[in-house]
Amino acid sequence: MIEGKKDFLTVNDFSREALMELIRLAIKMKKSKADYKNSLSGKKLGMIFTKSSTRTRVSFEAGIYELGGMGIFLNTNDIQIGRGEPIADTAKVLSRYLDGIMIRTFAHSDVEQLAEHATIPIINGLTDYLHPCQVMADMMTVQEHKGQIGGLNFAFIGDGNNMAHSLGLLCSKLGVNFAIATPDGYEMESTVVSKINSNSKLTGCKVLITDDPREAIRNADVVYTDVWTSMGQEKESEQRLKAFAGYCIDSKLVSLAKPDYIFLHCLPAHRGEEVAAEVIDGPNSVVWDEAENRLHAQKAIMHELMR
Ligand code: CP
Ligand code: NVA
Repeated sequence: MIEGKKDFLTVNDFSREALMELIRLAIKMKKSKADYKNSLSGKKLGMIFTKSSTRTRVSFEAGIYELGGMGIFLNTNDIQIGRGEPIADTAKVLSRYLDGIMIRTFAHSDVEQLAEHATIPIINGLTDYLHPCQVMADMMTVQEHKGQIGGLNFAFIGDGNNMAHSLGLLCSKLGVNFAIATPDGYEMESTVVSKINSNSKLTGCKVLITDDPREAIRNADVVYTDVWTSMGQEKESEQRLKAFAGYCIDSKLVSLAKPDYIFLHCLPAHRGEEVAAEVIDGPNSVVWDEAENRLHAQKAIMHELMR
């Protein structure tokens, strides 16, 4: 499916067909786990983290192990990159030891630089700008619960952040109608909006960008939110709590979605802020399947990139 050295930095680098094929592979790998137990036998994945993580760290480490390889956790505080060794040098050195690198950090340009100088695949495990592995698990979960992806109505309510960016890109690539409600001053970046709009012209999906959560959620098949304060924005949290008043996904707001809507959240969640407990812990929430699917989706990504 993927030829030559390939990185997984953004879903926008892939065609609709390649993305759907990856989702189908993830579902197959989940069902037939044993068939893939040696697919990356002896391969080593470096896992560079500058930010905290529960799901990404554990699902990548467990995932590479389940494919017959091993993960090496590299906290930037412990490696020389944290003391100023250039990213390009780190990329060249790690390429001599490893078969792939997953990185979670702040600046997206750092991940692009790593990919430029590495001779092994680089996987984006979250930047301030994007979270592509998460959205592959999200769409896999949508496929499992809804039996389809294209043509559905997807609503994102909250911050125009890394999750909003990656979801908008993936929805528009896959022909999913994408509605987003963000408060004034917290919109998605305009460069991402342009990409979403050009993707939507190719797939024919609708894109709605508003500041009204009620407008965005109306008739939704999938309802999504994420934290109001992302990693690195902690100092803004008080100001953000005020700005996002009225954006909490509660039972009143979801009553406007389709009765059989599903609720997704990348987690970690803050009950009582972006989502009410009655919604995230309610019958339409599939967040635990979604979290599990990080493992399967990333196994599919590693299988394709590192074989
Ligand atoms: N959703 C997600 O990426 O979770 P972690 O921050 O725990 O990795
Ligand atoms: N937007 C959140 C996602 C966490 C998985 C953050 O960047 O902190």
